[in-house]
Amino acid sequence: MSAWCKKPRDGGRKWWMKEISLWFIFTASVAHASQTAACEDFRPRAASAVLERASQPRSSFILITDGSAFSISLTKDLGERGAPGGVSVLTVAGDASANQTRINLLGVIQIGRQIQKASWRSTVVVASSDLLFLTVFAEAADEGRLVGSETRVLVVTSLALPEVRSLLGQSWVFSMCNAMLLNLPRDAADSRHNLFAHLPYGPTGPHLSRVASWTSASGLKFKSEVPLFPPKFDNFYGAPLNMTVHPFPPYWMEVESGRPDGSTVKRIAGRDYTMLETMAQALNFTISVMPDADWEEVILRVEQRRAFMSPMKLAIMPHLLKLYDFTTVIEPATLGFSMAKPTLKPRWQSLYYPLTDGVWASILAVLALVPVALILITKAGARMGSQSIRSMQRLVLEVAGSLVSQSSSGRGYDTSSTQVLLATWLIFSFIVSTAYRGNLTAFLTIPKYPDRPETLEQFIRTGAKATYPPDVVDFYNNFKKSDSYLYTTLASRMTLVPNFQVGLQEAIDLGQGYFYERMSLKLAIEEHFTSADGSTRLYVAGQNILPAYCAWPIPWGVPYKEKLNQFIMAFQAAGLIEKWTEDILKEARQESTAKQRRNANRKKEVQGTASDETDSDDDSEDSSSQGIMALTLTHLQGPIFLLLLGLLVSSLVFCVEILASWILKK
Ligand SMILES: *[C@@H]1O[C@H](CO)[C@@H](O)[C@H](O)[C@H]1NC(C)=O
Ligand SMILES: *[C@@H]1O[C@H](CO)[C@@H](O)[C@H](O)[C@H]1NC(C)=O
Ligand SMILES: *[C@@H]1O[C@H](CO)[C@@H](O)[C@H](O)[C@H]1NC(C)=O
Repeated sequence: MSAWCKKPRDGGRKWWMKEISLWFIFTASVAHASQTAACEDFRPRAASAVLERASQPRSSFILITDGSAFSISLTKDLGERGAPGGVSVLTVAGDASANQTRINLLGVIQIGRQIQKASWRSTVVVASSDLLFLTVFAEAADEGRLVGSETRVLVVTSLALPEVRSLLGQSWVFSMCNAMLLNLPRDAADSRHNLFAHLPYGPTGPHLSRVASWTSASGLKFKSEVPLFPPKFDNFYGAPLNMTVHPFPPYWMEVESGRPDGSTVKRIAGRDYTMLETMAQALNFTISVMPDADWEEVILRVEQRRAFMSPMKLAIMPHLLKLYDFTTVIEPATLGFSMAKPTLKPRWQSLYYPLTDGVWASILAVLALVPVALILITKAGARMGSQSIRSMQRLVLEVAGSLVSQSSSGRGYDTSSTQVLLATWLIFSFIVSTAYRGNLTAFLTIPKYPDRPETLEQFIRTGAKATYPPDVVDFYNNFKKSDSYLYTTLASRMTLVPNFQVGLQEAIDLGQGYFYERMSLKLAIEEHFTSADGSTRLYVAGQNILPAYCAWPIPWGVPYKEKLNQFIMAFQAAGLIEKWTEDILKEARQESTAKQRRNANRKKEVQGTASDETDSDDDSEDSSSQGIMALTLTHLQGPIFLLLLGLLVSSLVFCVEILASWILKK
């Protein structure tokens, strides 16, 4: 085999040109054959006409030939014309055994891949009049991933029509990818060069279409509306496309909906199904869902191209990219976690919380200052008689009492100065006590919950353990390999649980975090862990803990990738993806509330008919289920503690008094 490369006209812009030039080897057969392909040869002109017509800016040509006579004249012609992105010629000896040809072709295709990676868009031209060579090429190009979603293929050959039909129809590369076949006339009398394309989807099913023909006299003549390199995936004409999914609510799930006549029908619903359905309407295909399977089977079906795609979003992870391709990004990866909402701890400090430290300190300072000022004023006026200690005590008590809304006797405030001071103090205590009372009510009824972890970092800081179900095992393995402290710590705390019921129940009972897809978590909580009044003990943390993105897995190099991407990008631009997600969650919420209501009603009916004695029980249950909540000890622990403390202190003081009087008597 040999390879040869023509530099682009604008002079070696691409680095690989230099590399490929090293392959500049002419085999002996080339020199020999070029003598036979002498004088008037239309064949290369036909191919050039097609390529010229179909050429794209900056595109390059990769010519793969079997070294036969006519391929050499084509090589020469293409080489002389050149292409904006350069022309590479790779020659494989076609006269070896099929197995050897295959091995040689695979080697050449490796080089072709490298050239392709370095160029913007490439057209692969395969020239051979040998059916076996072309068949083997189709297989090898598929295996070597030479023909992807952006590559065009032009086969230049000379075959009988049935051979053309079977070659184009049977190999995946020629039938599905962006491929055309230029069939050169087999005898000199016929001057028509026909251009064929296989269209896998059409009004009458897959068919071979003659796109155009070329004669030296009239050039390229189109036979139909079909353009060169016809797009094959604009309209599927109702063809059933096999989809494989591992159902995963709320993205893909089976729901039952009631019909007016009372029967129920099962249908598929979900965010990703809605996306697919919208595409199916636009592209006119029928969704054919393959039987449910586990993840491994789904992945295998996609990898082996048994399914058209798996329309279920999946996080793009490096080890998956080796197996299959992904559409464009649908949304950020939504791995999250759920934990029990922190419960309110009974706290005697609830009496203290309504005011800040500064306010408390100022009140105490003022409380100390005002009686002192009052005492000084009255003393200076010398209106305090012999019982000055008593009057001072009374003053202090009255000042403190008015702060907690006790009336004052009004005795002793007969000068203007004391009256002004008292009035100011009363206004002050009115405002402060009103503010305190209002705030206290609020603090008791809407208590301050402790902070709850919303990000992975906060979760790690709590030191809680974590659980995950089997489908998250891939993420778990990646966490273990990560060099981030957060992920490795998380992995070291994670244990496997069989399903979400166990995981979420343990989250409630043991205070663990349960790691799963966020929307799915929300849905599971809505459906299984929310009571009829809409309250739940679980919450889903706000952060997506994985810095990755999700997309739909598709087989490698499929030519319809661009079509799917167009739709996904249009959905994103219109904000439809978020809207569909929200719609599904809302529906689930309504569904689960309705179900719980029905259950509650049924229970009530059963209880009502069973006995009337349980009426009082029912009432108490009702009051709690209607969301009327009485203050509990949790809320009112503060005043009780305060009272007990007062009792204790006063008993202590009482004892001290008894003791003191007893000692004094002695
Ligand atoms: C070609 O390879 C296949 C297996 O890849 C083998 O079964 C077959 O015998 C080989 N044929 C020749 C002619 O070597
Ligand atoms: C969709 O496919 C059906 C079935 O082949 C066909 O009859 C119909 O015309 C197609 N619709 C469009 C808009 O092409
Ligand atoms: C789709 O799947 C069915 C089996 O589930 C299979 O018989 C059929 O050949 C598949 N169609 C395509 C186009 O792969």
